[in-house]
Amino acid sequence: MAVDPVNLSDIRAARRRIKSGVILTPCTASIPLSEITGSRVACKLDNFQRTGSFKERGARNALLMLSRARRSRGVVAASAGNHALGLAYHGKLLGIPVTVVMPEFAPLIKITTCQRLGASVILHGSDFTEARAEADRIAATGPAYIHGFDDPHIIAGQGTMGLEILEQVPDVDAILCPVGGGGLLAGICVGVKAVRPSVKVIAVESVCTGNLTAAMRAGRPVHVRRRATLADGLATLTVGDNAFALIRRRVDQVVRVEEKWISLAILRMLELEKTVVEGAAAAPLAALISGKLRGLKGKRVALVVCGGNIDPAILGRVIEKGLVHDGRLTRFTVTISDRPGGLAELARVIASCGASINQVSHDRAFSGPDVSETRVVCTVETRDRAHISMLHRALRRDGFRP
Ligand SMILES: Cc1ncc(COP(=O)(O)O)c(C=O)c1O
Repeated sequence: MAVDPVNLSDIRAARRRIKSGVILTPCTASIPLSEITGSRVACKLDNFQRTGSFKERGARNALLMLSRARRSRGVVAASAGNHALGLAYHGKLLGIPVTVVMPEFAPLIKITTCQRLGASVILHGSDFTEARAEADRIAATGPAYIHGFDDPHIIAGQGTMGLEILEQVPDVDAILCPVGGGGLLAGICVGVKAVRPSVKVIAVESVCTGNLTAAMRAGRPVHVRRRATLADGLATLTVGDNAFALIRRRVDQVVRVEEKWISLAILRMLELEKTVVEGAAAAPLAALISGKLRGLKGKRVALVVCGGNIDPAILGRVIEKGLVHDGRLTRFTVTISDRPGGLAELARVIASCGASINQVSHDRAFSGPDVSETRVVCTVETRDRAHISMLHRALRRDGFRP
């Protein structure tokens, strides 16, 4: 049988190696999340790392494993995400030059953040395959290529999180971990199953990613189709060979969650846990609240909250959609009299229910032939779905038809 590319001693060694440069993030019990899920939930908050994700663990470990000669030649990676940020930050701390190749369409914020952290950013190609080819070309001239999820030193570094969870939550029954390329999951699987095999490790992916599900089915890593997802950190399109070899014999279960649950989980983390998480990091909570893991009711469950780098514009949309899902924001169209007092009458009914108008717009041109009437589109803040039903009843009672 082939020797595992990463074992427990590699992870323990990585832990000692990166200790001084990576934050020991809290893993706190959450009463509100326990209440809404029925499990006893703890959150491992790696979104509190300096660059906002767990990727620093592997990045620092891989950089520190380079020989003195290789350090001076620097490193190169193809990434527009958290791996690039982790490498750039720790490269700067350790005095190792970092070059990051991103596709030309990479968001400006990612480019400027990496540059601010001291990395040279090269924009090349229209997608990751082309950026990766350029990174390989650069690597052939001297710098070491550091793969974001399949390099054994990266996997060992990510595995340090699993050992921390076992110490911080000694009675943990299950760890829910997102999976993209599988570096994080592989590291956690290796560490946790070696130290405490009874702890369940459950992989979570989006229905729009599914790299591990596809690999499990095929018995080897395969490429999946690119689909838009809120969990962009998981959209690696495949799991790595090393990662898969480590995961396949250790992971207890793989679940896929719909995007609507990921979106809602981001909102719940914000409201109940007071913490900003990106889509990938919300996937474990999404799996719990979606009802896919009923067997975990009453169990002590650690959620791997692996990153907080979400675009504020997307966060804004997620919050609004979450409010709609919860019945705290609703929209309806009604016909009112287009004479003085018509709108006031509608506002009176809404106010009498204790709902608050957020936006009203008149739709005169498309309201039909009767010029004495107009349609209005109303967006209203409500308490919950029952409150919306009460509002609709009150509107109908007073002659409006929502
Ligand atoms: C926040 C976040 N979570 C999870 C992942 C997936 O990690 P892996 O590719 O090691 O499975 C990534 C990858 O970039 C990420 O940025």
